[in-house]
Amino acid sequence: MRQFLLLAHRVPVGGAFTLNDLAGGGGRMDEVARVVSTAFTLSNDLRRDVEVTILYAAEPPPRARRMRLDGRRLKFLNPDERSTAALLKNALVRSAGVDRDVEASPGLVVGPASPREALRAFAEVPGTIWLTETGTPISDSDVPGGSFRAVVSDPTDPTSEEVEILRTAGASARTLGRRSLRSSQCVDALHLLADRAQGDAPPVDGGASESPG
Ligand SMILES: C[S@@+](CC[C@H](N)C(=O)[O-])C[C@H]1O[C@@H](n2cnc3c(N)ncnc32)[C@H](O)[C@@H]1O
Repeated sequence: MRQFLLLAHRVPVGGAFTLNDLAGGGGRMDEVARVVSTAFTLSNDLRRDVEVTILYAAEPPPRARRMRLDGRRLKFLNPDERSTAALLKNALVRSAGVDRDVEASPGLVVGPASPREALRAFAEVPGTIWLTETGTPISDSDVPGGSFRAVVSDPTDPTSEEVEILRTAGASARTLGRRSLRSSQCVDALHLLADRAQGDAPPVDGGASESPG
């Protein structure tokens, strides 16, 4: 299983934004939608062995929301960013003011949660990694058999409180390289590493082969 937890710091938790302004009024919902799309979609197919949890932390409980998407049951996820954003926004709107989890669409459950406690619970599970530019280099041992649990942040880095939770919960800080990547690019990079670990992608040629001509 491949499990992502995405920290969404600025998306309005009640879904009160327009699809025409995902980056501004939507609090970078454009990148949140790209993360979801990148996590699940292949060309003409979905990755079914993926779960994505999104913590919408722009407001504290009871308005903060946790959204869980389960690839085994997910429907209505198309590859384009706008329709993915619409799926997530509609779920937030449906959940606003509701004090329990609701399945807003097949495989997509949303409800109230404490982002701190949800982050701690996710990060406490042994083997969880936290993607950050300042971590130690990621390796095959972080994606055993193609599985992983990974925390990634949206375009806003984790707050100092979130960093403290990640550290005390025991999540391992891992870097994908020196360059600061977009959140969705981190998802792609992690999938490739995991695809290699389970034999679905070729290993990197370390330069041993001769270039043609
Ligand atoms: C766009 S970055 C956040 C802002 C970025 N630190 C900056 O200064 O522009 C979004 C998230 O992707 C992850 N990330 C980005 N680059 C990474 C890298 N090289 N290695 C591991 N994680 C990375 C981290 O979780 C980061 O918080």
